[in-house]
Amino acid sequence: MNPFDAMYDGAPPWEIGRPQAAVVRLAAAGRIGGRVLDLGCGTGENALFLAGLGHAVLGVDASAKAIGMATRKAVARGSRAEFRVGDALRLEGLEHRYDTALDSGLFHTLSDAARARYVRGLGRVLKPGSSVFVLCFSDREPAWGGPRRVSRRELEAAWTSEFAVESIQPERILHQQNADGAHAWLASVVHFGRPLSTNN
Ligand SMILES: C[S@@+](CC[C@H](N)C(=O)[O-])C[C@H]1O[C@@H](n2cnc3c(N)ncnc32)[C@H](O)[C@@H]1O
Repeated sequence: MNPFDAMYDGAPPWEIGRPQAAVVRLAAAGRIGGRVLDLGCGTGENALFLAGLGHAVLGVDASAKAIGMATRKAVARGSRAEFRVGDALRLEGLEHRYDTALDSGLFHTLSDAARARYVRGLGRVLKPGSSVFVLCFSDREPAWGGPRRVSRRELEAAWTSEFAVESIQPERILHQQNADGAHAWLASVVHFGRPLSTNN
């Protein structure tokens, strides 16, 4: 069983019942383009929000419980967002190539070795010119528990030469323990990559 499954038996701290404010702002600024891949989508609030704006969205999460909850929300809300159990470090089975990848709260759960696999995997499923947005806990957040803190330097260093870091901005990541959320980084990364043979 995926270790996150047990957390979805209760009320996980990241489960806020609405999209992250940072994601809403990205969409309002026109930063989310085309086909969207939501990595570690949880119960789908960000994916459902983006699908509501007309994007084709696939949410992938390693927790079957989270995906079950996301799928039920999609049905209840009449959303076209799709959800699938899967490993964000092994994306090679995906049939589409994506214009935008969203990571809200996954990157900060990954080990150093997993970060490298994650970036390699992303390179295989993103279109040239696509965007990656990573929202993760920042090292400016004091130690009270919660996930691993990420420094700006680590976030910059995570990418291969197929990617260029456009910006890393201070943000807030909302969670249940504090109405104002926690210090976070929002990284905006462009994928150059090589043209892929697969159509769309
Ligand atoms: C902190 S939660 C964030 C959930 C959601 N993105 C949100 O903003 O509410 C991290 C999620 O990543 C998922 N996850 C962890 N490792 C994963 C992996 N290797 N592949 C896919 N999902 C993973 C967990 O199951 C969990 O749902």
